[in-house]
Amino acid sequence: MRGMADLLVKLYGLPPERAVVGVDVRRALPPEKHAVGAWVGTMFGPRWASEGSVAFSGHPIGCHIAIARVVRPGPASPDPGEPHSNGVLIGFACWDATARGFFGPEGVADAWRRKGVGAALLLQCLHAMRAYGYGYAIIGGVGPKAFYEGVVPVLEIPGSSPGIYQGLLR
Ligand SMILES: CC(C)(COP(=O)(O)OP(=O)(O)OC[C@H]1O[C@@H](n2cnc3c(N)ncnc32)[C@H](O)[C@@H]1OP(=O)(O)O)[C@@H](O)C(=O)NCCC(=O)NCCS
Repeated sequence: MRGMADLLVKLYGLPPERAVVGVDVRRALPPEKHAVGAWVGTMFGPRWASEGSVAFSGHPIGCHIAIARVVRPGPASPDPGEPHSNGVLIGFACWDATARGFFGPEGVADAWRRKGVGAALLLQCLHAMRAYGYGYAIIGGVGPKAFYEGVVPVLEIPGSSPGIYQGLLR
């Protein structure tokens, strides 16, 4: 996935954030670091888990997650203090992980793709980056350029492949 060109995104004049019915998209919390890291490692491999762990190391945390609300029969969650205990992690997206001002990685579970979750995560992260103080974001080493182009206007950065990911240890 890495080794492809970087995309530049203007953070002024972003399209509004999007909601997905039945899915919560929100910034992750520190006590979720282990769970998110394990899920990302299993679904997308150790490199993305490493990038995710760096996104968790700052405040505000640069890792946002998508949780599908699960409706279970019987009484509500036994622990009312745990609002997402009935949810299932289905996607994540990071910023300020591999480099400051960079967006990525981002991934959505196979069964949940093409339902708007990826776009909702991307837009929430870009709005968070804008609020944090960035004027532009760089989407690093993109795979599916068409996905990004469909959500926000992007400009491919000339000469950015393989960019900062070149020479990574495997
Ligand atoms: C890329 C990814 C995050 C998209 O997530 P998603 O939840 O399927 O995306 P959405 O449903 O929000 O799609 C938004 C739009 O992009 C389009 N789109 C989604 N994936 C696409 C792809 N791979 N190529 C082209 N267009 C795509 C959708 O059709 C949709 O268009 P629409 O609004 O007109 O229907 C997901 O496919 C994924 O996890 N892929 C594997 C990991 C990956 O490649 N991450 C990016 C690393 S750079």
